Amino acid sequence: MAKVIYGGQSYECGESSVLDCLTAQGVAVPSSCRSGICQTCLMRSIDGSLPEKAQAGLKPTLAAQNYFMACSCYPETDIEVVMPEAGLGKLAARVVSVEYLGTDILGIKLNPASPLEYKAGQFINLFKDEATARCYSLASVPSLNELLFLNVRKVPGGMVSNWLFENLRAGDNVAISEASGDCFYVPGNPEQNILLIATGTGLAPLYGIVRDALLNGHQGKLSLYHGSYDVSGFYLVDELKKLAQMHDNFSYVPCVSDGVAPAGYAQGMVLDAALADNPDLARWRVFLCGNPNMVNAAKQQTFFAGASMRDIFADPF
Ligand SMILES: Cc1cc2nc3c(=O)[nH]c(=O)nc-3n(C[C@H](O)[C@H](O)[C@H](O)COP(=O)(O)OP(=O)(O)OC[C@H]3O[C@@H](n4cnc5c(N)ncnc54)[C@H](O)[C@@H]3O)c2cc1C
Ligand code: FES
Repeated sequence: MAKVIYGGQSYECGESSVLDCLTAQGVAVPSSCRSGICQTCLMRSIDGSLPEKAQAGLKPTLAAQNYFMACSCYPETDIEVVMPEAGLGKLAARVVSVEYLGTDILGIKLNPASPLEYKAGQFINLFKDEATARCYSLASVPSLNELLFLNVRKVPGGMVSNWLFENLRAGDNVAISEASGDCFYVPGNPEQNILLIATGTGLAPLYGIVRDALLNGHQGKLSLYHGSYDVSGFYLVDELKKLAQMHDNFSYVPCVSDGVAPAGYAQGMVLDAALADNPDLARWRVFLCGNPNMVNAAKQQTFFAGASMRDIFADPF
């Protein structure tokens, strides 16, 4: 059975990931998504071979130095690992403003100490402390906004979101990671229609993507559907309505799934509303963000409606 060697100690790994093996022994390995997406759990192997999956999606420069994601690493043979050098891939950022966008949604603007290279819709990790970070999507657009813009939902009992709601103030300094993720607009094919479906703060990346596409002169339809149980879950409504007035090819439909929808809102599940209006998605591009159940169902149903899998981009959270 494979062992993990860390800090001079050797631990039986069994069927566990390196992350689970070490955290069970009290080693504070930072983690967030625990599914190989966010790269928060980066470690480096100094002896032993790495399974391919442990490095999936890493920059080639990091992979070549034997960095890997501890949550996706199920070693087949003994492996000796170390933490990455302090600060690897991290940047300091100053909190410029913190405001309520809705009852349970915080808008946070950050000024990174050095320019962050990113595409609207990608995500960063925001660190609460050395060992705790969570992913938040970027609602800002690099060429339009000087500051990074995050939308954070308060998750009941959630460690980092509650800490942000209760403690974060303008003027604070936080650590963030470089941006990752493949849910962003790629210029080209400007006539292609684009369907965007979000629930909750899944709107954050889509708000960035829509503005980025418009900025790039996208000509095809940009149809955004935002779902919430009730009207209290909608935010950036005025901004989106204004955008729809300014651009004939952009439409915004807020959908209320529970109770009666007031005038101007669609009634029902957001995915049903989006597909009822757009039943034929052949040659469309599709972006899906938010509740994992919605995102997974939407991936299937938009594919069945004709969208090609390579044109469907999703961030479930
Ligand atoms: C790619 C990506 C992008 C994201 N973008 C955004 C975004 O733009 N905005 C946003 O708001 N969120 C976003 N998220 C989600 C975000 O990263 C966090 O998961 C979210 O903020 C919750 O973190 P938390 O620390 O508050 O909650 P956690 O402490 O991680 O808890 C999450 C939930 O699990 C429960 N829980 C915690 N510990 C346990 C346990 N031991 N046993 C059982 N249940 C437990 C909590 O009660 C809570 O309901 C994104 C996630 C990903 C992967
Ligand atoms: S916690 Fe391992 S990649 Fe996110």
